[in-house]
Amino acid sequence: MRGEAVEVRIAGSALRAYADESLAAASLASGGRVLSRSLKYHRPRTFFCFEGHCSGCLVRIGGVPNLRACQAPCTPGAEVVGQNAFPSAEIDLLGAVDFLFSRGMDHHTLMTGSSVLNKLANKVVRQLSGLGKLPDVAAAELPDVHRFDVDVCVIGGGPAGLAAATATSRGGRSTVLVDDQLRPGGSLRTDPRTGRQLAETRWAEAVQAGVTVLARSTAIGFFPEDDGGVLAVAAPDRLYRIYARQWIWATGGYVVNLPFPDNDRPGVIAARAVGRLLIDHGILAGDKICIVEDAAVADDVAALAAALSAAGAEVTRIPLAEVTGTRGRSWASAVDTRRGKLDCDLIAVAATPAPASEGPRQQGCAVVLDEAAGGFRVAVNDLGQTSTPNVWACGDVTGYRGPTAAAADGARVAAQVLGAVR
Ligand code: FES
Repeated sequence: MRGEAVEVRIAGSALRAYADESLAAASLASGGRVLSRSLKYHRPRTFFCFEGHCSGCLVRIGGVPNLRACQAPCTPGAEVVGQNAFPSAEIDLLGAVDFLFSRGMDHHTLMTGSSVLNKLANKVVRQLSGLGKLPDVAAAELPDVHRFDVDVCVIGGGPAGLAAATATSRGGRSTVLVDDQLRPGGSLRTDPRTGRQLAETRWAEAVQAGVTVLARSTAIGFFPEDDGGVLAVAAPDRLYRIYARQWIWATGGYVVNLPFPDNDRPGVIAARAVGRLLIDHGILAGDKICIVEDAAVADDVAALAAALSAAGAEVTRIPLAEVTGTRGRSWASAVDTRRGKLDCDLIAVAATPAPASEGPRQQGCAVVLDEAAGGFRVAVNDLGQTSTPNVWACGDVTGYRGPTAAAADGARVAAQVLGAVR
């Protein structure tokens, strides 16, 4: 399930990892916890979402700073080092800042009584803060730029995007699919009711249908002024310019944290990430897992809790309203509730995913703030059309519905797109 065995180095130690998993997953599986430190107070930071959207896992890989460990594959010999820490992310002496300025620190007003001391303080602050150090080697040249002219561009390779792209390609329309994850499949890879095998099957079906799948490729901006509109896409080694007659946004939703004291402690992880580790990588993220949940996703949590229990974990579900805090030094060790303390070695947070609607908004699509949908969902009519001509949306970006319903929505909207093109 985890692919071919490879050796990587994380924080100076050689680890046995597997080619199909991310460096963050390999780190967690081998007991690695803290990956880096926050840039001001040097508080421990590590993975939360496992899908490239929270920045908790920024590390230096092969001399390049600020790469996401959860989106970097385990290539043989990969070298990972924590950032913003001395001497290491696990034991960071600079964490004294958090202790010394426990009531907060405004570096703009630090030692302003004396100009000499202020200059000195600024020098020290500049050395201690910031996000990573410059790369070991400067980029030699600009990356290649490839151009695509297609009938349909689908953004998002989760259940809705894969279903939509497969349908438009089978309908005879040239289709390109853009997905920012290590492997397409999205939430299919995180939910025990669907699973990794279904994700692989849907991905293979898309390729077989003729879809050009751009994996590990992020849609970074839509530029309407360029030739009727171009989507700029960044892959690790090149850039793409995509021109399409029809656009389908299937970007799904982001995992979000829930509001409770000390919810940023390492060891507090999105429930969907815990599902991804188990379903996609075969890694049980903890032996004693507390799931803090929002009632809106109770069915999803029930399925995840059953899968974690079946894998051997002790699982406790706690409604958000019961939680009063978390405990632990560099990793969560307990949840405080109104009924007392619950020991654990992992806290999973289950909330309604927030629609990933920035891209459609850039293309001028209207959005609606909808609490039940978890944020700003893209507004669509019954056919899946947005407020922008030739732009469609399907799946969780239009409001959370879960992987199975999202896939059905993707296929339904693709049928409408084919009808409109005809
Ligand atoms: S960005 Fe890597 S865990 Fe969130």
